[in-house]
Amino acid sequence: MTFKTFFKYRFVVYVLAIGFAAYAVVWLLNNATRPADEGNFGGPILGLTPEQNRKFFLAKTFFEKKFTPQEGLGPLFNERSCAACHGDPDEVGGEGRDLSSTSIMNFARRVPNSEVAKKPLKEVIATLGKRDVDFFLTQGGPSLQRRSVTTEFPDLYPSEVQIDFEQIPIDAELQSNRHAQIIWGAGLIDNIADGDIINNALKEVQEHPDLAGRPISAIDRFTELPRASRFGWK
Ligand code: HEC
Repeated sequence: MTFKTFFKYRFVVYVLAIGFAAYAVVWLLNNATRPADEGNFGGPILGLTPEQNRKFFLAKTFFEKKFTPQEGLGPLFNERSCAACHGDPDEVGGEGRDLSSTSIMNFARRVPNSEVAKKPLKEVIATLGKRDVDFFLTQGGPSLQRRSVTTEFPDLYPSEVQIDFEQIPIDAELQSNRHAQIIWGAGLIDNIADGDIINNALKEVQEHPDLAGRPISAIDRFTELPRASRFGWK
């Protein structure tokens, strides 16, 4: 390039140089602050912005935090942190292995005046719908709460105040012991593109129509737009 052509295009050269320098700074800022466990189980998914990473670690702190009665724990409860049920020490988001403390017992009964309530449970259990079942919502809900703050934090309450931990109501005909599943990788599953799920389903229909799965559409809670849904509970 002669001096004359450089002079003619010098602005282009400056703009390119400044653009490149700005890109390098952003790249460095992004990558110098990458957390060590990025992309690992229990770590943030790859490719988050620094702000998203900050939020991830903030949320992880809350996931591990043991709540106290002063912070709203109780009066009845099962565990003091999410991590107590979903993970072992040093392992956030794993499976709840101690079934006696990490599982949840859910119970319900048939609505007394529902048609199916008149028949033996065995005959109708497969056909029970939400309308036939009462989840004890006006009496603390369907999950057994095994622990009480007055028993475990006696110093915080006058001795005459005693809250008994809950027991399964005698009229709870339906009981279901729920296992605390691994929730590692939920972010990875959430990040599978809708298009990939739909394409896979189409491929399955062509290749193995008898085994093909169908994607279900659900409303995304944050964007309020429909998405291919991917988790167990809808
Ligand atoms: C007392 C134990 C316990 C605690 C504490 C607990 N969980 Fe769970 N969690 C469970 C069990 C059991 C299930 C399975 C529920 C089912 O199958 O009905 C579950 C399910 C889940 C699921 C999967 C839900 C789905 O629809 O697939 C997520 C996500 C989850 N828990 C997150 C959390 C978070 C976040 C916290 C803290 C705010 C938390 N859990 C606290 C026991 C617990």
